[in-house]
Amino acid sequence: MIILDGKLVSVTRREQLKLRVKKFIESYRRSPQLVVVIVGENSASQIYVRNKIIACEAVGIKSTKIELPATCQQHELNVVIDRLNLDQEVDGVLVQLPLPKGLNENEINTRLSPYKDADGFTFNSLGHLWAGQPIIKPCTPQGVMNLLEHFKIPVAGKHAVVVGRSTIVGKPMAHLLTMADATVTLCHSKTPHLREHTLRADIVVVAAGQKHLLGKDDFKKGAVVVDVGMHGSGQGKGVTGDVRVHELQDWAYAATPVPGGVGPMTIATLLENTLILAEISQQKKQQKK
Ligand code: GUN
Repeated sequence: MIILDGKLVSVTRREQLKLRVKKFIESYRRSPQLVVVIVGENSASQIYVRNKIIACEAVGIKSTKIELPATCQQHELNVVIDRLNLDQEVDGVLVQLPLPKGLNENEINTRLSPYKDADGFTFNSLGHLWAGQPIIKPCTPQGVMNLLEHFKIPVAGKHAVVVGRSTIVGKPMAHLLTMADATVTLCHSKTPHLREHTLRADIVVVAAGQKHLLGKDDFKKGAVVVDVGMHGSGQGKGVTGDVRVHELQDWAYAATPVPGGVGPMTIATLLENTLILAEISQQKKQQKK
């Protein structure tokens, strides 16, 4: 079985990105910049944000953290977003989720400009994607596509099953696979007889949010299995996914480990998205001249 080692692939992609960032800095005499907004004290979020900032710095992307107290009101957060939308020095913005109680994610998703949306979560970004005119693609699904491409897993003409219909993973994942000419079935928690679908799939992407939901009996021999699940501390040890991947040896053609599969690809895509936004911003500045 091929291990779809996202950690390794993400290292290669980050090295390539570093060169692209260097060229960007040489051309425009500035670094691309990602601003990460974190509201409140959620300790897991603090770790995720720290990792994102370290990852930015390693490739030459400037990163700035804006910390707001958990007591922050929606209108105060909105003012921050509006200011970042207008700031010419800021290329990408990421509002770390979840937000504390009382704050509305949807407000951010309607307010943040798609030209600043490094996550690709805003309704505007998703609308562009749905219309076949993406500006930025959501990091995790695009990271999965990059992983499949790296390992030369054919997608066109294949039957792909996505398990999970979240707005930020399952639904855009099904869309990206469709755009890559797969025939896609989107399954979810109310799908009867899930196994009947997964057993027919050439590629299964599992983003169900249920620890160890699927195992060998759910996949046909030779399937490609991508596990987006992440259960545990988020710090490596004891982290597992939605798939019992240990059962797949000598059964699947390829599968992702957890950790070290999709997770690192998501961060690499966030960095790539920030550079794409910076390049678009520069093109717009040139057009205005
Ligand atoms: N919280 C957990 N993962 C993510 C992510 O990818 N983006 C944002 N904005 N918040 C998150």
